[in-house]
Formats: sequence, C-alpha cells, structure tokens
Amino acid sequence: MNWNELEKKCAECDKCPLGTTKTNIVIDRGSREAKLMFVGEAPGETEDKTGKPFVGLAGQLLDKYLVAVGFEDESYYICNILKCRPPKNRNPQQSEIESCMDHLREQTRLIKPKIIVCLGKVAACALIKPDFSMTAEHGRWFKKGQFMMCGIYHPSAILRDSSKKEIMYKDLESVKAMLDEII
Ligand code: URA
Repeated sequence: MNWNELEKKCAECDKCPLGTTKTNIVIDRGSREAKLMFVGEAPGETEDKTGKPFVGLAGQLLDKYLVAVGFEDESYYICNILKCRPPKNRNPQQSEIESCMDHLREQTRLIKPKIIVCLGKVAACALIKPDFSMTAEHGRWFKKGQFMMCGIYHPSAILRDSSKKEIMYKDLESVKAMLDEII
C-alpha cells in the first residue's frame, strides 16, 4: 500500500461510526522520512477542521517543546491512534481504537520508524501495554520488535498541570538522545 492508497482507505473507512461525524480525516504531519514517530490519541476540534494532527493548543505546546529540545523539523512524524475526531472530544472507545489500528499499522509500515513515542495514556496503552502507568513508566524505554518505544505525558496534561513541565522536557531530551544514538 502507498500513501495515496492509505489516504483513500482512511477517507472511505466505515469500520466505526466516527467517519460519519468527522469533518476531515486527520492522517499526519511532519516528515514521512523520519525515524521518529509520535502517536497521539485522536483529533480534536482544530485538527478536525484543518485535517492536520496536533495543530490546536496542545499541538502548539508540543511544537514549543520540540524546538526547545532541539529536534530538527525533518526529524519527526506526528499522527494519532484515531484518524477521526470523537464527538465533543470524548475518549476513544476500545472498539474505535481496534477499528483504526489497521490504518496505523499501514502508516507505520510506510514510515518505518525506529522510535515510536506515545503521547498520553491512550496511545501508550494501545501500543506499549494495556496496563501502562504514565506516573510510573513515562520516559521508560521498551523494545518491541524492531521499535524502541516509550510513553510520555500528553501535551494537554502539561496544559492542565504545569508541575509536569520539567518531566516533559526531560522525557523529550531522552527521546532526542535515543534518536541521536540510533541514526
Ligand atoms: N490531541 C491528540 O491526541 N491529537 C491531536 O491531534 C490533537 C490533540
């Protein structure tokens, strides 16, 4: 499958009802050549309007961190577990996560990342392990198949609780160090 085919498959997807309430499919932003893939939860209102992930307040905060830690624009790729916005930003249901996982698998095959960073608990539980604890395991590295994976706080958690700012910065520094080591 190539990018055009994946985009078409997502646009035509009827595996869950979210396709009927969304405005736009949200597939990705960043470099499709990157070795580092960030995976968030699901599009919010701004993402649904623009068709791009992490462009609202949480995304703007994420971008500030990425610049502050020194990631080159071309060094990362950003996407979500879900490609369609859940109405009123409710949490994704397990059935929706499972329905959308095929698309993420194809996306991962096309990107071939070496590092996958889960932004928030929903992505970490779906991709690393179902009982992932953000408090206890944020920033910890897991080797899964050919990927190095870790879960870090979702930027919206930092917007809600500024005492987590330092943790977020340190975890992203660890991601940068892993990227520099791997490439
Ligand atoms: N939160 C997410 O998890 N993903 C987005 O794209 C925007 C907000």
